[in-house]
Amino acid sequence: MSPRRLAAGNWKMNGDLAALTQIDALCDAFPDPGCDILICPPALLIHPVKGRIGAHPIALGGQDCHTRSSGAHTGDISAVQLKDVGADYVIVGHSERRADHGETDDDIAAKAAAAHEADLIAIICVGETEAQRDSGQTLEVIETQLAGSVPPGATALNTVIAYEPVWAIGSGRTPTKDQIAEVHGRIRAVLAQRIRDAADLRLLYGGSVKPSNAAEIFAIADVDGALVGGASLKADDFGAIIRALG
Ligand code: G3P
Repeated sequence: MSPRRLAAGNWKMNGDLAALTQIDALCDAFPDPGCDILICPPALLIHPVKGRIGAHPIALGGQDCHTRSSGAHTGDISAVQLKDVGADYVIVGHSERRADHGETDDDIAAKAAAAHEADLIAIICVGETEAQRDSGQTLEVIETQLAGSVPPGATALNTVIAYEPVWAIGSGRTPTKDQIAEVHGRIRAVLAQRIRDAADLRLLYGGSVKPSNAAEIFAIADVDGALVGGASLKADDFGAIIRALG
């Protein structure tokens, strides 16, 4: 069965125990959602959130994982540990981690493989900087990132790709519909060369998705959902985005 479209919220380094009321509100608003809903809060909130949502079909995810399952890696969290506290997904290769922590495509492929090994769905992020778009390198950059960061063994069931243009993140700016369609179409075509069920693989758009532009973005070919930052912090805004998708 093909996976359902996905509305994913990346809380980044935001949120605390008091913010869990936002999750309560989502559970109340979507007892039976028409799409998959995912929240990726800071890792230390996954366990309390899991306890709070019980059997509600909101999935939880981490925002990063280590390549190893355990060991002497101070401050890091493994995919196995994320799974243990209730996560089903993990984001890897977000541009903020590529920039702030120097993560390379090789690192990201190893993290995605560790996620698969731990039975987590890896959300692998790709995206060009503004300078790369301005110089006409967007598709080349995306293809290079895909070639390096999608590990062998990726399938439509264990992997999601998020296209997040770096310049659109938190900026209020988004690419045109044609630009999103072009990149998503290319991602699908490139992955079809190496993943048998690439037609079913979910491709998310991320970068300044909000209630006012969500429906337009979700109508674009090859967009199977969104990875939402700022607008996922408020249940009202994220709820409107979920409604536009589901
Ligand atoms: O991972 C989601 C993200 O980078 C987009 O953030 O705040 O532009 O929706 P935002």
